[in-house]
Amino acid sequence: MVKEKVNRVVVVGTGAVGCSYAYSLVNQGVVEELVLIDVNELKAEGEAMDLNHGLPFAPASIKVWSGTYKDCNHADLVVITAGLAQKPGETRLQLLEKNTRIFKQIVKSVMENGFDGIFLVATNPVDILAYVTWKESGLPTSKVIGSGTVLDTARLRFSLGQYFNVDTRNVHAAIIGEHGDTELPVWSHASIGIEQLTTIIEKRSDVKKEHLDEIFKNVRDAAYHIIERKGATYYGIGMSLVRITKAILNNENSILTVSTYLDGQYGQRDVYIGVPTVINRSGIREIVEIDLDETEMKQFAHSATVLRETMSSIV
Ligand code: 2OP
Repeated sequence: MVKEKVNRVVVVGTGAVGCSYAYSLVNQGVVEELVLIDVNELKAEGEAMDLNHGLPFAPASIKVWSGTYKDCNHADLVVITAGLAQKPGETRLQLLEKNTRIFKQIVKSVMENGFDGIFLVATNPVDILAYVTWKESGLPTSKVIGSGTVLDTARLRFSLGQYFNVDTRNVHAAIIGEHGDTELPVWSHASIGIEQLTTIIEKRSDVKKEHLDEIFKNVRDAAYHIIERKGATYYGIGMSLVRITKAILNNENSILTVSTYLDGQYGQRDVYIGVPTVINRSGIREIVEIDLDETEMKQFAHSATVLRETMSSIV
């Protein structure tokens, strides 16, 4: 009898982000096997036990266990959420150097065990750590994906939904660029339902560009606002990672603004950055190159330059 291939996801890092992702995966019944790995083995073990106890209430049967890098051999997807958080007085660059060292070790351990699936990176700074993962793994760029601006895009859609009082799922808009301070909204291609946002602004006197600019600022700075209040963000990113996971495992050909490697697209090279891409079982199927207006193109180029410069200090 031929053994049926089951979908296996390995999560490296069982901090708040890794666990929110795992919890969301279990609740949405997305995978058949879920492996948790952490340097703190007891923590991973405890999380697996806790999740297992919720399985009678999950929508689908799933095997959850705390494992080792050997489990990556049969994995379809390895999701890395591990890494240190910024300490008081520590610069982003110092943090980046430390997390780069951690990442090199993780990727090496995954690859040593014959992994041939897709990497999904969530740790910040996500664009740079996705680049590090790609370099270290030796895998094609199509198989190394960063969570990019999927969460920022979700935040924008949510906020526009509130502003226009329509279902957030009817809001079509995107944030591209660095997952961070230099990201930008693509207003030129946003629409509410099937009506262009630019048309709505012209037509309706109550809808003002200043309001939209304010909405974007709040989206860009959302992580700071949440961290000020609760110390960290994890549900939003956890659910964003599930969305990307579904697109991959269900071979959806979904368009999501993940962080991917540019090789000439949008006039940029040798950088991982958030842009719309078509995602399916093979990872990144293709990059969608939309026509940005002049301002957007400039902002995007600036974002890519900032990422490349930061990267040159560590790679
Ligand atoms: C977020 O945007 C901090 O990247 C994290 O919520």
